[in-house]
Amino acid sequence: MNNTITSTYILAIESSCDDTAAAVLHNDKVLSNVVANQDIHQEYGGVVPELASRAHQQNIVPVVTAALRKANIDKNQLSAIAFTSGPGLLGSLLVGTSFAKSFAMGLDIPLIDVNHMQAHILAHFIDEEGYSKPTFPFLGVTISGGHTQIVRVDDYFTMEVIGQTIDDAVGEAFDKSAKILGLPYPGGPLIDKYAQLGDPKAFPFTKPKVGGLDFSFSGLKTQIMYFVQKQQLADPSFIDNRRDDVCASIQYTIVNILMDKIKKAVKETGITQIAIGGGVSANSGIRTALKASESKYGWTTYLPKFQYTTDNAAMIGIVGYLKYNELSEKNAYQDLGISAQSRLKI
Ligand code: KG4
Ligand code: ZN
Repeated sequence: MNNTITSTYILAIESSCDDTAAAVLHNDKVLSNVVANQDIHQEYGGVVPELASRAHQQNIVPVVTAALRKANIDKNQLSAIAFTSGPGLLGSLLVGTSFAKSFAMGLDIPLIDVNHMQAHILAHFIDEEGYSKPTFPFLGVTISGGHTQIVRVDDYFTMEVIGQTIDDAVGEAFDKSAKILGLPYPGGPLIDKYAQLGDPKAFPFTKPKVGGLDFSFSGLKTQIMYFVQKQQLADPSFIDNRRDDVCASIQYTIVNILMDKIKKAVKETGITQIAIGGGVSANSGIRTALKASESKYGWTTYLPKFQYTTDNAAMIGIVGYLKYNELSEKNAYQDLGISAQSRLKI
């Protein structure tokens, strides 16, 4: 391990999917966290990879410039550049990767590659007033539009995936259900919004039967589709009339599926610290269920600040900082030969 470095400025870049993001961290504190969302995908009801790459190319320079300006940092003060090397959409990743490589080469500073899935978990180590950091070991639960994983975390870089989805990610389950209800993409936050007005037990959906700690969401999506079609035959205004109750019932089912597996993971590992991340961790249902588990089961739960739950570069920056300080130079830094990897395991 390196001697503790007292003042590290990391510029972080994230471009794995449809958000172009840059952040500057001073040690484990976030100085700036800029995200440019790509609205273009809304009209297609999902992320279109080719459009995402083009939008990243347009956004990357202004986003990095804004991150440096907001942090009030000159590029020559930077200690290293951290970037997402995977997993994600290859064309999108390549934009961030190429930019990070050229910038690090131009400034002659280290280049640090970051695994997006590790970053969702290590976002909990960002120093934020009012937020405490988990201690090892803990269970990292990453729930997003691309992934659904339960990860045993024994140290910053000692992680093991102990459960994951065998088909759709939980965010996809939210988004596809929303699409069935005619809601715009991404529909997860809208399901959450309407769910808060409805009755969660109005329509009982069955939960999938999947072994171990793995998840499955594709069956639920099909079940919801047939259910809505059937109801619409009887009442063409069904969605308008019962939107809140349908959303509440969908959310209730998804939250139960997640909580069942987390409970099982706690039972199997004996670990009662749960740290959630990924876009779906913004969901009010899962947040309430996790908070309730503290008094109900004696767990300690960690819920990140909202801007660190969805895709962002601050989480890439904290991994950059931890690698810079915790790992040897050989393990922390990448040479310019590194390339983006769409499939990258934790
Ligand atoms: O982490 P993220 O920004 O991107 C990925 O890495 O996938 O997650 C985006 C996902 C989308 O599926 C979106 O619908 C979902 O997170 N999401 C939500 C909520 N906020 C975002 N799902 C349910 N309830 C929410 N409040
Ligand atoms: Zn993500």
